[in-house]
Amino acid sequence: MSLKQPFYISLKPFLDHQVLPRPTPWPQVFGNDRPVEVEIGFGNGEYLARLAQENPLVNYIGFEEYCERISRALRKLSRVAADNVRVMRLDVRPGFMYLFAPRAIRFIHCLFPPPWPKKSDAKHRLWTRGFLRLANNRLADNGAMRIVTDHEPYAEWIEEQVSGSGFDLKRARIPARYGTKFERKWVEGGQKEFDAIVLTKKEHIHVARKEDSPLNHYTIAQFDPDNFQMENFSAGGIAVVFKDFLYDPRRQTAQAHVLVYDEHLLQNVRIVIFKSGDEWRVHLARGSMLMPTPGIARALECVRDAAMKTHKGEGTKGF
Ligand SMILES: C[S@@+](CC[C@H](N)C(=O)[O-])C[C@H]1O[C@@H](n2cnc3c(N)ncnc32)[C@H](O)[C@@H]1O
Repeated sequence: MSLKQPFYISLKPFLDHQVLPRPTPWPQVFGNDRPVEVEIGFGNGEYLARLAQENPLVNYIGFEEYCERISRALRKLSRVAADNVRVMRLDVRPGFMYLFAPRAIRFIHCLFPPPWPKKSDAKHRLWTRGFLRLANNRLADNGAMRIVTDHEPYAEWIEEQVSGSGFDLKRARIPARYGTKFERKWVEGGQKEFDAIVLTKKEHIHVARKEDSPLNHYTIAQFDPDNFQMENFSAGGIAVVFKDFLYDPRRQTAQAHVLVYDEHLLQNVRIVIFKSGDEWRVHLARGSMLMPTPGIARALECVRDAAMKTHKGEGTKGF
């Protein structure tokens, strides 16, 4: 009987974006200043693992949103034991916006981005003119990117987005060559050719990095946890959704759980209201690891306002 060797999945490639410095000093993360390439939507990680293994002198950063796919990718990365790759569970749009300085990336790979084929869903597509401009800014001069899609109308749509984004575009029909899960799926379904779009940076476009928002904590004079009710907030691309409220009378501490959404970034936020002397303080829960966005600042205000409404004639100070 042969005993199965234990197999350990290394978590070393996984980065928690919430604790990374902004913009992230990538040479410090990788321990060297080799060029950085990005794969957007690496799925199960076949291509990312291969790239990292075949090009040890390049540093790779992968963005993916689905946990299960990230876990499969980490397994593949453990098998190739590459030290030159990091992955994040994050939508690439806030990823680029907050974590990358201009010209920080040499090449961007994107295989089979969701095409959102229905006309009414086109607003969900990643490769809008706005995102092309952001990618342009984060790419080095003469940097480039390759997008491969199974959906010809999406390739045509991307061509329409390119003007004003600082790129030269070349488009070609190519056979299957990447061996990823989704490529295999389309090949099994009978598709023989795909659209490959190569965009080469010709002009640098200015897109400022989003700075951290200042987060105020508040003091209120009175608070009655029995009357706490919070309304959801939505305006200007920010949404704050109330999820849950708890109160511990022994500690005189309440906790509101809210979901905060700002421009493709969803964060779970816990805000505490606790007694301090004669007053009550409204703070982020201790140990909160968050990207300090305008939505988080708004969530603190929403919880403060809801806490104040539990008592009439309330006053507040921010600090
Ligand atoms: C159709 S799958 C392709 C996966 C893989 N590239 C392959 O070829 O098998 C598209 C992937 O992109 C990811 N994705 C879509 N939009 C994204 C975004 N804005 N940021 C990061 N990942 C994204 C999805 O989660 C999904 O896993």
